[in-house]
Amino acid sequence: MDQTEPTKMTEKNNHYTLITGASSGIGLQMAHECAKWGQNLIMVALPNSGLRQAAEEIKLKYSVHVIYYCIDLAENEGPERLYQYTTDHLLKVNILINNVGTGYSGMLGTTEIHDLKNIMYLNNFVMVTLTRLFINQLKDYGQGAYILNVGSLASFIPIPGKSVYSASKAFVLNFSIAMREELKTSGVSVSCLCPGPVITSIELLQRFKDAGNKGNWILQSPEEVARIAIRKLLKGKKVIHPSLKIYIISVLSGLLPDGFVSRIAGWVFRRIAEKAKKIQISQEQVATSKSNLPENSFRKISNLN
Ligand SMILES: NC(=O)c1ccc[n+]([C@@H]2O[C@H](COP(=O)([O-])OP(=O)(O)OC[C@H]3O[C@@H](n4cnc5c(N)ncnc54)[C@H](OP(=O)(O)O)[C@@H]3O)[C@@H](O)[C@H]2O)c1
Repeated sequence: MDQTEPTKMTEKNNHYTLITGASSGIGLQMAHECAKWGQNLIMVALPNSGLRQAAEEIKLKYSVHVIYYCIDLAENEGPERLYQYTTDHLLKVNILINNVGTGYSGMLGTTEIHDLKNIMYLNNFVMVTLTRLFINQLKDYGQGAYILNVGSLASFIPIPGKSVYSASKAFVLNFSIAMREELKTSGVSVSCLCPGPVITSIELLQRFKDAGNKGNWILQSPEEVARIAIRKLLKGKKVIHPSLKIYIISVLSGLLPDGFVSRIAGWVFRRIAEKAKKIQISQEQVATSKSNLPENSFRKISNLN
């Protein structure tokens, strides 16, 4: 089954936090955090992504309503179908978390147009469309309604070799700040989460190891990022940096000449990519290293965000 058949709800408990990309990584951990705060959940991810199991675990652990809905949001009218599902079942959303996102590594000239389209669609168009679809509901709720868009440290840094990804994340930040102003008098608070590298997969951990552990000081677990994100979201923070280090890097990136910042970022990512290419991760290595990663953090990731 790809979706929950929701039970009838009363007027009082029919508000939900909707999280896209909630089957793994940061999205899954934000679902746990929101449930801890007593929020009912609508968890959204791809079909066959383990979403049902994740939703059932959360339901058992916290006494909140948990609905899951499997959909490929990159498909035509994906966001519209999700919205239709919520209205068909009279589910009202008071917190919208636009977490789903994807990325790539590679020079523009060698990247497939289909992949570029997918990044811009998932990272930007899906976020904008869902915000548009749920905005009136959020405004009706007023005080206590929130939107959290997931950007990245890359929102502040134009990265050669990840140009479309970093530009798409700059879009997320820009859009969030503008929406925050637009919704200022409505009671709806808009925040943008800007994480640095988060260990959500074995591949990401391996890339950092390949880079000679130089980047380890900046890594965070999805649990830590989610905990800080939800706490700061509920406090109404505009831009959420999940650590002091990430904050300092983002501030420095704004102060230093952009050409210089971009060159350094390109150099760092090139080094990581070159080293990662040299090493094949064997299945045994994946299996043994899994036990060293944070719980629930082993799903695939296609990029170093
Ligand atoms: N990880 C990082 O280092 C990092 C750093 C900065 C920013 N971010 C941003 O944080 C957000 C979450 O990243 P993450 O690393 O936690 O991601 P992740 O572990 O790869 O999880 C992505 C989630 O989105 C779902 N998903 C992917 N494509 C989808 C689609 N077309 N339709 C519906 N659901 C889809 C995935 O389902 P499946 O499980 O089936 O794939 C999964 O639930 C993204 O916006 C990312 O850009 C990540």
